[in-house]
Amino acid sequence: MKSASPESAAARLKKITALRPTLAIVLGSGFHPVLTELRVAEKVSLAVIPGFPKPTVCGHAGELYFGHLGGTPVLVLSGRAHFYEGHDMERVTFAVRALAAFGITDLLLTNAAGGLKKSFRPGDFMVLTDHLNFMGANPLRGLRHPNASGFVDLTETYDPPLRALLFRAGKKLRLKLKRGVYLAVSGPSYETPAEIRAFARLGADAVGMSTVPEAIAARHCGLRVAALSCITNLAAGIHPGTLSHADVLSTAARVKKSAAHLIRHFSELYGKTAPGTPGATTRSKK
Ligand code: HPA
Repeated sequence: MKSASPESAAARLKKITALRPTLAIVLGSGFHPVLTELRVAEKVSLAVIPGFPKPTVCGHAGELYFGHLGGTPVLVLSGRAHFYEGHDMERVTFAVRALAAFGITDLLLTNAAGGLKKSFRPGDFMVLTDHLNFMGANPLRGLRHPNASGFVDLTETYDPPLRALLFRAGKKLRLKLKRGVYLAVSGPSYETPAEIRAFARLGADAVGMSTVPEAIAARHCGLRVAALSCITNLAAGIHPGTLSHADVLSTAARVKKSAAHLIRHFSELYGKTAPGTPGATTRSKK
């Protein structure tokens, strides 16, 4: 059977709604409460969109929403496909390609991560400035794409103006956002303390199991990208005792209101500043 293309998935999405948001938000662990702030126009199960892999991790709903967040039209993906679930990189990044084909131009990726930097505390939020890809795979490997080679520049993967909007949103909430380098591992096991010591020496500030493949694929499609981590725990060997998914979820639950308000403010600011949206001021396109 021929597998679905991102373009066919995008065509299906266009039939679901007349809304044409340019901002998409991918909700990682800890960020699902953003949905409480969303004025929902349409909600669809990922299962009905051709080519979308169904996420398998509990707590990830696997739904796509169209609606307004802080007054701005948005597409929200609740539940993503992870590499650690066994999906290949093409599947992991399929949704991002479909969003680009739909007309999304700006992508906010969110995730839960372990903190390495001494000043980080569980419950902090970190704006990604850069990443280290330790997943052992690249989503552009072997990809044949009609209009682009795989030799994508990643000098500025995380768009400075979008990053600035995250900081402005944080300031409005009196939340002091951290910034740092995210190191992606394949998971699903957590890291050893020796790995964490090595990663810290390499310049990592946080470690997690997602985001990097999507960011690379998004840059390949020409999307502007921002990414935000919820530091749900201190990484192995820094955290006193052992790590568990339950600890990750409990920190995420503790900061759920801040996460939801932060993303809502970001979306509101985006609507006021991005090109082509109401109240837009001029903003350079990279
Ligand atoms: N390591 C990897 N991924 C994670 C962690 C961690 O400590 N916390 C949340 N996601």
